[in-house]
Amino acid sequence: MNLILLGAPGSGKGTQSAKLVDKGFEHISTGNLLRSEIAAGTELGKKVESILEEGQLVSDDVVVELLNANLNLDNSKYIFDGYPRNAQQAKKLCEILDGHTYKAIFFDIDTDILVKRLAGRRTTKDGKHIYNIVSNPPKVEGICDVTGEELIQRDDDKEEVVRKRLDVYNETMQGVLSHYRELNLLEVVDANRDVNDVFDSVMSIVKN
Ligand code: AP5
Repeated sequence: MNLILLGAPGSGKGTQSAKLVDKGFEHISTGNLLRSEIAAGTELGKKVESILEEGQLVSDDVVVELLNANLNLDNSKYIFDGYPRNAQQAKKLCEILDGHTYKAIFFDIDTDILVKRLAGRRTTKDGKHIYNIVSNPPKVEGICDVTGEELIQRDDDKEEVVRKRLDVYNETMQGVLSHYRELNLLEVVDANRDVNDVFDSVMSIVKN
């Protein structure tokens, strides 16, 4: 079964994805893919850089292009993290997943918690290892426990960009949630809790 993780910026999609990878899932994060293109200075990266800096969504076509280049649905079970983000993308993902099983999990969380989590987030450059200076600090300040590389703060975690990302999320996510609710494929998890408690809820959905 494939999983679609839905939730506001900072709700824990990337954190839970890292734990699901240990259970055999492949993680596909459209945000990480876009940031890799920007870091590599590709044409696509140059095109989307200012859009991410402003906290807006990039065009649906660009994201589909990245997905198509990175998916192999016949050989892997995927976690979709950060896709879909609007009703059109949700319909497109239905086409992509046609013939495959999947569930959507919505991480329900209070806004005041999100803002604090994003202010404290530190990650590796590729976004694969995620820490928080308050709730999940690395053993050595500023250094990744796994790779030993220096941790960074994402450009779009600045307070004014976070606010914009939350506005965009509030404008676009209802259509996505309605889509999966109508298909009877939507599960809701209380994401205000500790990382391991959230993961237990996710795993009980995966097993049922
Ligand atoms: P993207 O990278 O997808 O960002 P996002 O959706 O805003 O989500 P985040 O990565 O900010 O949060 P998260 O839910 O993964 O939280 P995390 O686990 O890190 O998108 C970035 C940009 O790319 C978009 O703004 C857009 O421009 C573009 N984009 C991407 N996809 C697109 C698409 N499909 N279409 C168009 N544009 C697209 O956790 C956050 C922090 O909280 C961490 O510090 C973590 O340690 C901590 N934490 C996590 N869980 C807990 C917990 N349970 N308790 C305490 N702390 C916790």
